[in-house]
Amino acid sequence: MLNSQERSSSISSVFRGTFIHSTRETALQIREDELLGVDADGKIAFIEKGAELDRLSQTFGFSPTEVTQLVQHEFIMPGLVDTHIHASQYSYAGTALDMPLLQWLNTYTFPVESHFKDLQFARRVYSQVVKRTLRNGTTTACYFATIHTDASLLLGQIANDFGQRAFVGKVCMDRNNFVKHYKETNQESQAETCRFIAELLNKKYPLVRPVVTPRFAPSCTGALLGQLGAIAKKNNLHIQSHISENIEEIKLVKELFPDSESYTDVYLKHNLLTDKTVMAHGCHLSDEELVVFRETGASLSHCPNSNISLCSGILNVRNVMKHKVKLGLGTDVAGGYSSSMLDAVRRTLDSSKVLTIQDPEHVTLTFEEVFRLATLGGSQALSLDDQTGNFEVGKDFDALRVNVAAPGGPIDLVQPEKPKILLEKFLNLGDDRNIVEVFVAGRKVVPFTEPTTE
Ligand code: GUN
Ligand code: ZN
Repeated sequence: MLNSQERSSSISSVFRGTFIHSTRETALQIREDELLGVDADGKIAFIEKGAELDRLSQTFGFSPTEVTQLVQHEFIMPGLVDTHIHASQYSYAGTALDMPLLQWLNTYTFPVESHFKDLQFARRVYSQVVKRTLRNGTTTACYFATIHTDASLLLGQIANDFGQRAFVGKVCMDRNNFVKHYKETNQESQAETCRFIAELLNKKYPLVRPVVTPRFAPSCTGALLGQLGAIAKKNNLHIQSHISENIEEIKLVKELFPDSESYTDVYLKHNLLTDKTVMAHGCHLSDEELVVFRETGASLSHCPNSNISLCSGILNVRNVMKHKVKLGLGTDVAGGYSSSMLDAVRRTLDSSKVLTIQDPEHVTLTFEEVFRLATLGGSQALSLDDQTGNFEVGKDFDALRVNVAAPGGPIDLVQPEKPKILLEKFLNLGDDRNIVEVFVAGRKVVPFTEPTTE
């Protein structure tokens, strides 16, 4: 039992107002006039009815005058989880969208990524992408960096400095027949991955972790894939890569790995499908392959902007859900041109509607379901749902304070609206002007407090 002094020091902030989040059971739970308390470790200490203020203030030892009251048109929702973003590609986001995947990689992506040997350039781009995504409400990001270990470590440092929860992957590739200087030897890739993991873990950043990152099967030899599977297992680490994004890519995988039954089988054989794996795209996976995802606990990152921008395909999210495969949303910058997860929400809804146009039997996703994918779904896909994704007591307070009628913002409200309408308007029409504060593990990270040089 805590004494009253311990209790008072254990609560760092209390909010009162409307909270909107998802649970396993319901895509949308709206809790009006509730009190949410955050403890000194940034964890949710309580979320209860506003009428319980007196009891809660006594039990937890805070003064009712310290409570932050949300104003009209405001609500608090969980932070957005971007399950797949290439931090290094942010420099050309919004351009170069005129080619299919393999040509796009060779023409634009590999030449740009090779510049990240230059740490000054890396610092500039990585500071920009971390700040931009935080402002847009991405409290957790799963990043691809480049093959360069020191620049990848710098990305980890920058995410930590700005307070973003992040997985950072040093990209591994020992095969590149087009841009020949942008690859590693097998030895280098293994040794540098081990150095990257050791040095990042050694920094003891509370919210930043390494993720083992074979780029995708066509840019890795079978030997490297197997070694990376072993490294992930030995260190109990997350794994990320790409799968079945585009038809030409799938054909190439068949040619390069003739002994494998499917693209999924390539990763399975090399021990790269675990319950800590997230694979981007999966547009063309068969039902049999989805069963393997389900059985291994591996998840998918749905990246609709990229899927459309590179004319890769359209993932049938409903079918993925039917197979009970964990699923989150990703921006996939710069194949996806927007770094905002609000765009990923909108493109997910659009893609689902296209599937309904093609097949009227298809059951279109609702905005409530997509809201869950962008928050709790993302945290499940990254196996972080014991720590973040919604407002359960004991989880970290990763949250957005949203004002739908923010002055100078993009939304006009003609009349007071109910919370569900406010959320729908924000998801469809809102932007960073509506995200007035962002919290990660209880710390206010937006507006920025650090002096910025960018
Ligand atoms: N497959 C392999 N590398 C990439 C990449 O950088 N972006 C996308 N969209 N797909 C990939
Ligand atoms: Zn990608």
